[in-house]
Amino acid sequence: MAAAAMPGDSHLAVAAAATSGGQSPGRVRAGLGPAGRVRGLTRAVRRQNAPMDAQAYESEALAAIEGAVTAEQLDEVRVRYLGRKSELKQALRGVRDRDSGMALNATRERLEAAVDSKDAEISAGELERALAQEAIDVTLPGEERRLGTLHPATLTRRVAEDAFLGLGYEIVDDREVETVHYNFDQLAFPPAHPTRSPRDTFFLDDERLLRTETSPSQIHTMEAKPPPIYMVSLGRVYRRDEITPTRFPIFHQFEGLAVDRHITLADLKGTLLHVMRALYGEERQVRFRTHYFPFTEPSIEPDVSCPICAGEGCRTCKHTGWIEMGGAGMVDPQVFVNVGLDPEEWTGFAFGCGIERAAQLRHGIPEIRPFWENDLRFLRQF
Ligand code: PHE
Repeated sequence: MAAAAMPGDSHLAVAAAATSGGQSPGRVRAGLGPAGRVRGLTRAVRRQNAPMDAQAYESEALAAIEGAVTAEQLDEVRVRYLGRKSELKQALRGVRDRDSGMALNATRERLEAAVDSKDAEISAGELERALAQEAIDVTLPGEERRLGTLHPATLTRRVAEDAFLGLGYEIVDDREVETVHYNFDQLAFPPAHPTRSPRDTFFLDDERLLRTETSPSQIHTMEAKPPPIYMVSLGRVYRRDEITPTRFPIFHQFEGLAVDRHITLADLKGTLLHVMRALYGEERQVRFRTHYFPFTEPSIEPDVSCPICAGEGCRTCKHTGWIEMGGAGMVDPQVFVNVGLDPEEWTGFAFGCGIERAAQLRHGIPEIRPFWENDLRFLRQF
């Protein structure tokens, strides 16, 4: 019998010759007539009145199978046309005569075959895509995993540490929050010394402050153990300085202390010469200028011959051929007394140098600020 699918409707609208009509009246629920849009109901109702057209069903199903692009879509189509609740399966269940049974079974078989071949086609396509997309081309250059680099201050710190370790020094890591007692009193700072003022120093309260230099670690070390002492302490120090191209309120120092019998200024000079050559090259020379520090006597400021111009005179060394390297001197007898050591028995020297300054010279970095800005364009250069 002639059948025509209504435009815009699904296969369910197909009217056809009697096959299984009226076989499952129990599916019609009260209140929903043939116009009901609930799919299962519509189907059941249609089947009652207008049994399915196997041919139209098949061609519609074949088109849907052909149109499936993904495995999921194909599965939906399979469920819709071949699933337990599909119109075809329902019709098969209601078949009463041999011919229509054979016809419907043939339709089912053809549709199943179509699904199988579409399934094979989709999996083949997916495999091909996976092979194309996920294949590893071993000839391609690897993905670059960029390693971090050490901060230039850390690099310089390590060079200094190595130089001191080579001399048999012990490396000490000390606290950054200090007390007035250790930062000033034990180091024999006079009561009115300007650095004791909150204008120069970051105080946490009346007693505690951020250390202004690494020198308090001299005291801690001498209090902790008896001489001989050969130690170097490296770390951060804090001063209330304006930020300028050459000054920053946080910076690093390395601080050395030697306490033993019969130590002289010549030992200090030889030690600094060794370290300066490790930092700036074997050609370097060291000279001393007299100076003042509360905890050393005599006090000096060591200069190193300019590593930029090799002492010829340039902008970096302000045309003097020498660069100031920090402070140093022989341990003041008062400091020995403060820590309970006999200044008649013990002698010693101490020195302190800025690590950023050393790194600036080593790497030709004109300013101190980039050390604290964490700009990777700067940091990755080392
Ligand atoms: N602590 C001094 C400073 O920061 C340097 C110094 C260290 C001087 C040890 C003498 C001895 O300027």
